This record gives sequence, C-alpha cells and structure tokens, in this order.
Amino acid sequence: MSASVIDGKAFAAEVRGKVAAHVARLKEQGITPGLAVVLVGEDPASQVYVRAKGKQTVEVGMASFEHKLDAGTSEADLLALIARLNADPAVHGILVQLPLPGHLDEDLVINAIDPAKDVDGFHISNVGLLATGQKAMVPCTPLGCLMMLRDHHGSLSGLNAVVIGRSNIVGKPMAQLLLRDSCTVTVAHSRTKDIEAVVRQADIVVAAVGRPQMVTGDWVKPGATVIDVGINRIDAPEKGEGKTRLVGDCDYDSCAEVAGAITPVPGGVGPMTIACLLANTLTACCRANGVEEPEGLTA
Ligand code: GUN
Repeated sequence: MSASVIDGKAFAAEVRGKVAAHVARLKEQGITPGLAVVLVGEDPASQVYVRAKGKQTVEVGMASFEHKLDAGTSEADLLALIARLNADPAVHGILVQLPLPGHLDEDLVINAIDPAKDVDGFHISNVGLLATGQKAMVPCTPLGCLMMLRDHHGSLSGLNAVVIGRSNIVGKPMAQLLLRDSCTVTVAHSRTKDIEAVVRQADIVVAAVGRPQMVTGDWVKPGATVIDVGINRIDAPEKGEGKTRLVGDCDYDSCAEVAGAITPVPGGVGPMTIACLLANTLTACCRANGVEEPEGLTA
C-alpha cells in the first residue's frame, strides 16, 4: 500500500483564505483583529517563526504588533508589557514566543496573559477548559492536526489514536482533542514499554517527540493515518558536505509504504500551525466583540 499524502501546505492556504474572508467582513463592521507577538532574545529559530507569523498576519488583513525585547529583559518589564497588551482593545491575541531566556519563569509569564487573548491556548484556564470539554482557546499545532484528521476521516469516533509525546504544547492537548472527538486515546512516551506494539494498535498516530525518524514503517498498522509533528534537522551528506535536511519524527519512506495517509515534513503539520494561530486570533476577536465565530476554524 502507498499512503495518500495529506498536503498541509494546501490545507493551510485554504484555512488562511477562510480567515481572510472573515476578516474582510469584520473590517466592514469596523473591527480589525489584531495579534501581538512578543519575542525575548535573539534565538534564530524563534526569529524565523516570529517573522513568518507577522507576515501571514498582515496577509490575511489583520493588524500585527511585534514586540522584540532584548535577552536581558526583566520579568517585571515583560509582565508590564503583557498587562498593557491585555488592556489594549486593538489586541485580540497575544503570543509570547517560547522558549524564553532561562531567567524568566515561563509558567508565570504565560499565565499572566488574559485567557481570552491566549491564542496559544497555554494558559491554565484554557488547559482546564479544554480538558473539561468547555469552550477554550486550543493550542495551534494540535488544532491543525485535528483539522487535517477530521478532513481526512470525517468522524474520528471510535478510532484508536496513539499520541507519541506528552508535551504541554502538543502531546497533552492533542490527546484531549482526540478524546473529545471520541477516539480511544493512548499517550506514549519515552518510558512506554514496547512502544512499537502500542503504536501498531493505532488507526491514528500523532508523532510529537522530537526524535528524527523514530517511527518506522514496521510500527505502523496497515492503512493507519500518520500525522508527523516533528521537525528535525539532520546531516545530509548525500546532498554534499556539510549539508542538512529536515525530517520528521517518522521515517517517511517506510511509513508511507504501510500507512493509509501521511503528512510530509516539511509541508505537513508545520504550515497548519501558523494558519491555526490566525484562526485562533480571529476566534478571539469574534468572542471579544460578541459577533458570530467562523465555522470549522475551532475545535
Ligand atoms: N515555540 C515553539 N512552538 C511554539 C508555539 O506553538 N507557541 C509559542 N508561543 N512558542 C512556541
């Protein structure tokens, strides 16, 4: 069997199109959704992400507010900025790019964001709302995975899902979302015994561990859907000396031989994350203004 490829790049473009159309309608009513992104320090990967977020925010017609603070910024100054953004009616979404420099308490900073503006869905209130099946802001990467799974399967009800990885950003919220869609969910991690056998039970595999090409085709149940959240840079001597390439947490070639459907890396989950950030900002803006939310852009 050769898996069908779930094209995250095309799907993300579709989501951005829906967001842009809704933003245009809001603007006719005098409402412009706004996203504030806060970057502390000069981490190169974070700079790339933040630039991409700002660019796409503007492209869908939203207002983008970038706050770049130097690496030595004090916790008090960062909290003061968050308080200003919380109070600013032009700002509907606030994202503090992680990781933060070591002297800053990430939990404290994230929990200082107004939960209604927490477009990352990391605030403990949103975590609790999601876990109890209430209306929450949902973390962007798992939301993107869920959208692709719903699109591919229609209903997820009764399917066996294995989430590999237990991070607060992906693994745990992904498990909650799949549970909410009536999957039977297993969360596997580095201490899971016979992880291959556990994964082999799954109709849906979501790999989010950050270990290059860990999941191989012999772990995958024939016909299963494989969602690869990993983005890992590895040496690629075949491309020339010193060259690298991006791979996921799944070994694409062997998994694609067995799976029914699979997301590629790059071009799978990655593009969906920023698209869902824009969708969350739009959702937050609609809720703040008491106007109808767009369909199909939330969990
Ligand atoms: N760093 C890596 N992924 C994320 C994310 O989804 N949100 C934030 N704020 N920082 C990140």
